[in-house]
Amino acid sequence: MNRKKQTPPSGPAAQTARPTPLEAAAEIAALVQQIAHHDRLYHQKDAPEISDAAYDALRARYRALIEAYPQFTPAEDPEKRVGSAPAAGFGKITHKVPMLSLGNAFSAEDTEDFVARIRKFLALTESEPILLLAEPKIDGLSASLLYVNGGLVQAATRGDGATGENITANALTIRSIPHRLKAPFPERLEVRGEIFLARADFLKLNAERERAGEQPFANPRNAAAGSVRQLDSTVTAARPLDFFAYAYGEISSVDFSSQQELRDRLTHWGFTLNEPARLCDGARGLLAYYAEIEATRHTLPFDIDGVVYKVNRFDWQERLGFVSRAPRWAIAHKFAAEKAQTKLLKISIQVGRTGALTPVAELDPITVGGVVVSRATLHNEDEIARKDIREGDEVIVQRAGDVIPQIVEVVLAARAADSKPFLFRDTCPECGSAAIREEGMAVRRCTGGLVCPAQAVETLRHFTSRNAFNIEGLGEQRVRELWSDGLIKTPADIFRLHTHKEALAQREGWGELSATKLLAAIEARRTIPLDRFIFALGIRQVGEATAKLLARHYKRAPAWEESMKAVAGGDQSALDTLLSIDQIGPLMAKDMAAFFAEPHNQTALAALEQELEIQPAAAPTGSPSKLAGKTIVFTGTLTTMGRSEAKAKAESLGLIVSGSVSKKTDFVVIGAEAGSKATKAESLGVRTFTEESWLEFLKAH
Ligand code: IVH
Repeated sequence: MNRKKQTPPSGPAAQTARPTPLEAAAEIAALVQQIAHHDRLYHQKDAPEISDAAYDALRARYRALIEAYPQFTPAEDPEKRVGSAPAAGFGKITHKVPMLSLGNAFSAEDTEDFVARIRKFLALTESEPILLLAEPKIDGLSASLLYVNGGLVQAATRGDGATGENITANALTIRSIPHRLKAPFPERLEVRGEIFLARADFLKLNAERERAGEQPFANPRNAAAGSVRQLDSTVTAARPLDFFAYAYGEISSVDFSSQQELRDRLTHWGFTLNEPARLCDGARGLLAYYAEIEATRHTLPFDIDGVVYKVNRFDWQERLGFVSRAPRWAIAHKFAAEKAQTKLLKISIQVGRTGALTPVAELDPITVGGVVVSRATLHNEDEIARKDIREGDEVIVQRAGDVIPQIVEVVLAARAADSKPFLFRDTCPECGSAAIREEGMAVRRCTGGLVCPAQAVETLRHFTSRNAFNIEGLGEQRVRELWSDGLIKTPADIFRLHTHKEALAQREGWGELSATKLLAAIEARRTIPLDRFIFALGIRQVGEATAKLLARHYKRAPAWEESMKAVAGGDQSALDTLLSIDQIGPLMAKDMAAFFAEPHNQTALAALEQELEIQPAAAPTGSPSKLAGKTIVFTGTLTTMGRSEAKAKAESLGLIVSGSVSKKTDFVVIGAEAGSKATKAESLGVRTFTEESWLEFLKAH
């Protein structure tokens, strides 16, 4: 699964002055986090937030900084990671025959070279015909299906080519994957092909997601990959996935000798194939096929990103063999991205759920590759500056597989004489709060976390979530409802909901009982420990662990707030104090300062505090416990205590709670249905407890 290559942008890196070592270190740290975040979204969640070009720009910036300051190369160097290791949650499967990828051709010349190389390699004369099988290339998720004695026993993704994820349960839900092969068949047979979504199914799925308030998939490939990599196969079953077979891997006996015969056999066994396919003679034949498919691709029910050419004869394929990770006997001839020229009417700014400001180009609607386009993403303000994109410009728009098109360039010759560079605003268009750019970050963010309507649902959902206020009955769905109806706009409104009891009870699907229950759940949370309170505010980078550190240090809410306001106001000694806390760095401090610098947040915070009683942080219990400083891991489901309570208890005794087991771990408490951590603890000889024996042990210490 490769990110589509695009021209590497010269990027913001090229323009900024050389940073100081300190700035470079901070920026490298920020970039490592961002790259890891986007890798996770792309490879494991199949839901990228940024374009390939923007991602490439991050990596380019990172490389430039590391080149200038090799001493800051982090242990987790993103440059050393390749491809996508299988995501956690799925079993791993090692491919007996590696699943390779294909080399690319981008022009007629590349195609002619490809055929010429084959002719030369096989020492064929000019007059000897070379037959190649040409097929459409679908951009989906490659998969391998293993049949033993005709029955499907295992399915895997490609993963990094050597090891993939076990997706058997999910593959079984795909209608075009036969569970049994039609005889005769080899005893062991691995069929390879592509899992994909037809265009209409993709558009329908995205429409449904948008209706449900979910992020739509960027393209059919992401949608297919995201659907296959669901741990719950009922989710996969509900998605109309399809499968085309195009190759074989492991096989116990082969009685066919060409690509064409393989296709006939695959059809006989019960598979659907990539159509229209054609047996072509040499480069001329291939190019004629390419031209036809390119001209008619929009009439196909699925999106393709090119065509694949494969030498038909297997004996020739075998002689040609492989070079690095791709066969010499096959190549993918990619379509050029589709482009069109239109007028950029306006640049509007959208605010995302996390406060990121994204510029969007509003275009004079135009057809690009069979689809009417009226908007294009502009990624961020650097991109606008780099390409000097202005309102009123004539621009070239391109669709490269993605639903959201991009602006490639401005037609400068057509620019109006009085046109002015676009000025990116520094306030949020939704709530008017300051929008700031953190060091090393490409995005500008709204700082009005507690008051910004664009972020409201996300802020409130986080506020009521389990490890924050833990208000049962106020999950995302209800938060969304109550927010749309104006009953809850800011966190303080939650604690004033009791004044709307009637209105609540009369809501569709609610009734007296639900309303009473919810209000009781809210009342139960009017008293809250300082660390949970801090965590609940959803300040960027302030997770549970940081909130605890802050609570422990400042002890009381007013002391913490006064200090944060001082930091926001530029008070050096307040900043020094904050940075003196172990594990709190300058990037975090900046985010806290930004939150408190925003007057809207301060108002919302004051209103909230009117409603609450915030408990000061409990000082770690009196006499230092014998267990202080020991490291503990909780795993599995704890029944007597919840996970958070167990952690809090351990921490109050001075134990360090960790998420992973290593040689340094002192204790592991194993709850129900514990997995690999329990096994690991045992193999490392770490002392383990059941939940009961742990409680006993605590009593004794
Ligand atoms: S043949 C040795 N045929 O494109 C590789 N691949 O960019 C044999 N793909 O990894 C692959 N349509 O996932 C082949 N008709 C087709 C294909 C196809 C899509 C995918 C496949 C491959 C990737 C390479």
